[in-house]
Amino acid sequence: MLARLATKRLLEVRQIFRQNHQTSRSFSTALNYHLDSPDNNPNIPWEFNDANKGKVKEILSHYPSNYKQSAVIPLLDLAQQQHGGWLPVSAMDAVAKVVEVAPIRVYEVATFYSMFNRAKVGKYHLLVCGTTPCMIRGSREIEDALLKHLGVKRNEVTKDGLFSVGEMECMGCCVNAPMITVADYSTGSEGYTYNYYEDVTPKRVVEIVEMLRRGEKPPHGTQNPQRTRCGPEGGNTTLLGEPKAPPCRDLDAC
Ligand code: FES
Repeated sequence: MLARLATKRLLEVRQIFRQNHQTSRSFSTALNYHLDSPDNNPNIPWEFNDANKGKVKEILSHYPSNYKQSAVIPLLDLAQQQHGGWLPVSAMDAVAKVVEVAPIRVYEVATFYSMFNRAKVGKYHLLVCGTTPCMIRGSREIEDALLKHLGVKRNEVTKDGLFSVGEMECMGCCVNAPMITVADYSTGSEGYTYNYYEDVTPKRVVEIVEMLRRGEKPPHGTQNPQRTRCGPEGGNTTLLGEPKAPPCRDLDAC
């Protein structure tokens, strides 16, 4: 089964690559790795602005001067905030310069943590969990419903700049699979939030999108009215009474 999935994924990537090549669009908006494009390449100058230069100093002051590289994550976060919610490669290079490491050391971090966006995202970046439990429970159908409803490809931003759809690995809600996260940048990239919507269906994710479009805040957590948080649908079937207290150990007898 895994071999079949890997082959399918490879074909999908090839297909995206071909489509992008034909339309001369930025590769990096559709793929998970970086390829230079007119709006994202190392020749575009980038530096922390005056307001953030003080914050850079403050962040560095938290670490010993010979361990500056420990500041990579907060500095990338600051750079992402300054750049409107995503990290161009020249911003990563600027961070590498500040912490005095080779750029690859910064790329390693930025590519590992999916909260760093390496291409433009919408005000609401919808992340579909693609790991096994969610996939078995229909995450592909969830993603298809979102892409079809919004008329975009994965990692592409809608024309109004409101939405983009990406994929994330397990977000720890497998018991409520399938689930999506909405990275909400609607109040700016400093105060963004990650909101989990669980037990979703293709119909429900479209409803969530439309509520967000209207400026509403859909309730987080399980979207199945038959469940309370991660409890079983229809209520508990075991542990129905008060649990017995554990027997006390006679410590004097030890
Ligand atoms: S597999 Fe989707 S949350 Fe764990």
